[in-house]
Amino acid sequence: MSGFWSVYVTLLTLGTLVAMAWLLWATRRGQPQNKPEHTLGHRWDGIEEYDAPLPRWWLWLFVATLLFALGYLALYPGLGNWRGLLPGYDYLDASKRLEFANGKQGWSSVHEWEREEAQAQQQYGPLLARFAATPIEQLAKDRQAMQMGERLFASNCALCHGLDARGAFGFPNLTDQDWRWGGSPEQIKTSILKGRMGVMPPWGQVLGAQGVIDVTAYVLQLGQRPLPDGVRANLENGQAQFGQTCALCHGPTGQGNPLMGAPSLVHPGAFIYGSSFAQISESITKGRQGQMPAQQLLQGDERVHVLAAYVWNLAHGDATQP
Ligand code: HEC
Ligand code: HEC
Repeated sequence: MSGFWSVYVTLLTLGTLVAMAWLLWATRRGQPQNKPEHTLGHRWDGIEEYDAPLPRWWLWLFVATLLFALGYLALYPGLGNWRGLLPGYDYLDASKRLEFANGKQGWSSVHEWEREEAQAQQQYGPLLARFAATPIEQLAKDRQAMQMGERLFASNCALCHGLDARGAFGFPNLTDQDWRWGGSPEQIKTSILKGRMGVMPPWGQVLGAQGVIDVTAYVLQLGQRPLPDGVRANLENGQAQFGQTCALCHGPTGQGNPLMGAPSLVHPGAFIYGSSFAQISESITKGRQGQMPAQQLLQGDERVHVLAAYVWNLAHGDATQP
């Protein structure tokens, strides 16, 4: 912050506190002391308005909050460039952290976070390095690694895939053998490290209304799902359209293609965007674009390695159990 803004913020903050104190003092002075019989003459429904002073404890509460604010502003950075009296790192110069760790410069949440990061790195660094050097299938048998994987999963992945990793609408189940992008240890790791983007183009215009119905009926048949009553579909046309339009990505028999993340349509398990006639025809008409966010920058390669082993283990029955 430049000097001007620092002074500006400081004056504004302290000025507000002084103004509050003055307001408190001024309103108190003008009040009649302990004369509850003094009314303002307002009366409604049997209730009279008195002009009694603030209760004493209420007043002291105000004073206490003012004092608290002053103490807080002295300890923590809140007044412009003032760093506070509490010790911490200097985030401006990372190379001098050790020096500052000995208690020179002010507290900040950034310092706090950096210190925790550094501590975690010191604590888990060697362990993570050992995990990262272990092949994924073998790592899946390591109970300690799987515990770490569970924690990482809960805080970074559960939001979308669910705490039990069984997925939700739009988010794939990671505990079954039905992979969109492939289920080998390396493919799983790549999915997490680099992220994935599934692109299913919209086909409503190309197929037309009846075409969508026909193809939807064919997709239902592929997954051995019943066609709802009252839907009139030409399955032969559906099959022909499928061969022309869909087979390129989903494969001639609908078995899917991990190179493009095109899911298997044959698998009797649930589709992530729903398996009803209406939901499947919506997938086909409007297309779908699922996005798995890349974790490389967020987690780093070593943690992703542990996560990949954890996910692989989920899908293969818990290997840490004998
Ligand atoms: C913002 C939501 C979101 C978060 C957070 C998220 N994912 Fe995903 N993930 C997705 C979506 C959506 C897909 C499916 C992408 C697609 O449509 O192809 C996916 C796909 C995957 C796949 C590939 C599944 C397959 O069938 O091939 C794996 C493995 C995976 N995620 C693991 C993880 C892990 C491990 C984490 C935590 C580090 C994580 N995901 C965090 C949304 C998320
Ligand atoms: C360009 C490749 C491509 C073509 C062509 C294509 N799809 Fe897809 N399809 C995908 C991908 C990739 C996904 C996954 C989208 C996602 O994960 O968000 C998908 C998803 C779907 C889904 C949803 C699956 C689920 O899990 O909910 C259905 C149903 C589907 N496609 C049917 C079809 C049909 C029918 C056609 C032909 C009319 C077709 N697709 C053509 C690539 C394609």
